[in-house]
Amino acid sequence: MAYLIRRMEDKDIPQVLQLDHEAYPTQWPRPTYSGIKHELRNRLARYIVAVKQAEPQPALMKNNNNSGLQQALSYVKHLFDHDRFFGPEQPRPNSEYIIGMAGFWIMVDEAHITTIATREVYRRQGIGEWLLIAVIETALELKANVITLEVRASNKPAQELYQKYAFKHVGLRRRYYTDNGEDALIMTTDTLTSDTFKSYFEKLKEAHRKRWTDLYTAMPGTTAAMPQGGRP
Ligand SMILES: CC(C)(COP(=O)(O)OP(=O)(O)OC[C@H]1O[C@@H](n2cnc3c(N)ncnc32)[C@H](O)[C@@H]1OP(=O)(O)O)[C@@H](O)C(=O)NCCC(=O)NCCS
Repeated sequence: MAYLIRRMEDKDIPQVLQLDHEAYPTQWPRPTYSGIKHELRNRLARYIVAVKQAEPQPALMKNNNNSGLQQALSYVKHLFDHDRFFGPEQPRPNSEYIIGMAGFWIMVDEAHITTIATREVYRRQGIGEWLLIAVIETALELKANVITLEVRASNKPAQELYQKYAFKHVGLRRRYYTDNGEDALIMTTDTLTSDTFKSYFEKLKEAHRKRWTDLYTAMPGTTAAMPQGGRP
């Protein structure tokens, strides 16, 4: 298995809708295929996905020397293996499974995070933090000065993540969430280009890289060794 972060594309939308439903079950109205497609074409928006890639199956790769019968048997075995061992939460061989996503809007010099989410079974494995790192890097490339967001007052995991990255609680939007009337905390970073933030961010990135080495390992036979944030 290999992992990467890349720009969200139209082909990702069905999985993104699934993930969105899992991450925000009470949100209404629900995002739609056409709504996300439209967002992906918005010049002010950036959306990225964290992807788990399955290694190509040798029997299905081109240029192997197996006989036709061996290839057919191997293919049947591969189908059987997939159903039995991979299960629904795993990527199919030669395919990508979206395990996280994030998005933000750039408004003048401010990046406003609109979503960040990890599939439930992949939580607490460094994915949300990896996405946030990619968001911060992309925001820096786009010359944003600060990053801001709203988060539910009850959403402690997300607040902890943002606090880890030096977001501060700067305000409150009362009854911001229409599903249950919950308040939103407004959280914001300091100036991204300040020396304090930059050196703190570099330390956090290094610690993440050391702790979650699997995320930074390339697929055998590929050259894309380093994960990349959603490049503009
Ligand atoms: C918030 C969310 C994206 C975190 O994703 P994740 O992949 O589990 O996060 P990570 O494993 O990278 O954790 C990074 C940091 O986040 C914080 N964190 C994540 N889950 C936490 C939890 N359950 N309790 C406390 N802190 C938590 C910690 O500070 C953690 O750092 P640590 O490992 O050094 O303690 C995830 O819980 C999620 O998708 N929630 C549903 C969607 C959502 O609410 N998004 C936020 C909208 S504002």
